[in-house]
Amino acid sequence: MINEKMAQALNEQINAELYSAYLYISMAAYFESVNLPGFANWMRVQTQEELMHAMKIYDFVNERGGRIILKAIERPPVEWKSPLAVFEATYKHEQKVTGLINELVNLAIEEKDHGTNAFLQWFINEQVEEEKSASDMVGKLKLIEANPEGMYMLDKEMGQRIFTPPAGTEEGQQ
Ligand SMILES: [Fe+2]
Ligand SMILES: [Fe+2]
Repeated sequence: MINEKMAQALNEQINAELYSAYLYISMAAYFESVNLPGFANWMRVQTQEELMHAMKIYDFVNERGGRIILKAIERPPVEWKSPLAVFEATYKHEQKVTGLINELVNLAIEEKDHGTNAFLQWFINEQVEEEKSASDMVGKLKLIEANPEGMYMLDKEMGQRIFTPPAGTEEGQQ
């Protein structure tokens, strides 16, 4: 059974993952509003990933006998000054989430909760990917930002992204 302190911290992380989903759907809506449907698609897929992260933690807390308590989700921003600004914000946000995951691992170690520590390793690896995909986008957008043809091509490319649910159990061993 999971202890109270660890369950509470994981509940906070469920909220952070749901906020991430909310932030990315707001970014999708921004991209729809500036006629970049491919970028919007990319953000919609990102939203699904964040919901999957939240549910992965939900399932884990539940399986370990903890109580899931949902809190209010903060309102996300609605406007950005450019696609580059969106991805700079995404990169910054993912770095913040990495910090939160690291703190959860620190707590699991402190509490000698090896099960939770093992569970969180999936998220450690996931955050490496999340930071990389955001910073890659920042790099690409810096290259083409003033070039409408480049933006058109990149938008098409981003329209190809599809959500792939993780294989295996809800514990997410991939
Ligand atoms: Fe996440
Ligand atoms: Fe993320």
